[in-house]
Amino acid sequence: MSSAELMETSKIPPLKVDKLSVNRSGRLVLEDVCLTINRGEFVGLVGPNGGGKTTLLLTILGLLKHRKGNIELYGNTRPSSSVLRKLGWVSQHASNIPKNIKLTVRELVQLGTLNTSNMLWPFSSEQNEQVDQAIELAGLKPVENRNISKLSGGQRQRAVIARVLASKAEFILLDEPLVGIDRDSRNALLKFLDNLCHEAQKTILMISHDIAAIQQASHRMVFLEEKIRYDGAADCFPDLADLANLRGIKSVHDSNYSDNTLYQLEDMGEE
Ligand SMILES: Nc1ncnc2c1ncn2[C@@H]1O[C@H](COP(=O)(O)OP(=O)(O)OP(=O)(O)O)[C@@H](O)[C@H]1O
Ligand SMILES: [Mg+2]
Repeated sequence: MSSAELMETSKIPPLKVDKLSVNRSGRLVLEDVCLTINRGEFVGLVGPNGGGKTTLLLTILGLLKHRKGNIELYGNTRPSSSVLRKLGWVSQHASNIPKNIKLTVRELVQLGTLNTSNMLWPFSSEQNEQVDQAIELAGLKPVENRNISKLSGGQRQRAVIARVLASKAEFILLDEPLVGIDRDSRNALLKFLDNLCHEAQKTILMISHDIAAIQQASHRMVFLEEKIRYDGAADCFPDLADLANLRGIKSVHDSNYSDNTLYQLEDMGEE
């Protein structure tokens, strides 16, 4: 590929979601979601429990079907396996590795380099190089031979992310990686993710309930509650009152407040 073609390719957004609607168990969970993420962006995805964050990630990854709309990955609505290999997913429970699994950090990261074409062979020098780079990037060199059950929560999170990095993923989707880790580990993990965008040109979409933490680290924040209620710069993220307004939540202390819902429930014979 010529350098001009390479430049053009790098301008194609890793993700373009257009008017996406998704049903789960017959109920509309995502409605008309539009979201474009450009290369090198670190986007924080926040919202209430059940707001549809994990559903959006699973739909982007092709694990859930959508009812309406379009998803383009690196410009492809029907991504080939080589395009799909650019995606790395760290699930909500990825770092909950059972204690009885005896695996060192290096072995865990090595798993990231396996695909259907190289599973039966010993690790190639290229694979070993990918593993070395991922361990280095994640700052896990001093503990690479340690059993993963002996790592701190933050180190374990970095190890599962390093496994994704070893797969050469360019667009990393993380579901709640900050859960259960202490403040210092959380800060180190966010710094590490920020470096991945700035120094390794990765693109990150990360779900978190920790709005304050993600606001400090991400470039852009998206608030999702069935629909996108906010999409903009992290430092302009709405305060609590504006957020309540965007979500259609009324102040119960407002003198103009009328609780139609209560009357409706009474009409239905409920108390
Ligand atoms: N396996 C499932 N089958 C059917 N419906 C589901 C399933 N998982 C989630 N849902 C529903 O889909 C909606 C969105 O759930 P989702 O898990 O995407 O929310 P979320 O924003 O990730 O929430 P949380 O912050 O709690 O992880 C919820 O109403 C939920 O009940
Ligand atoms: Mg979720």
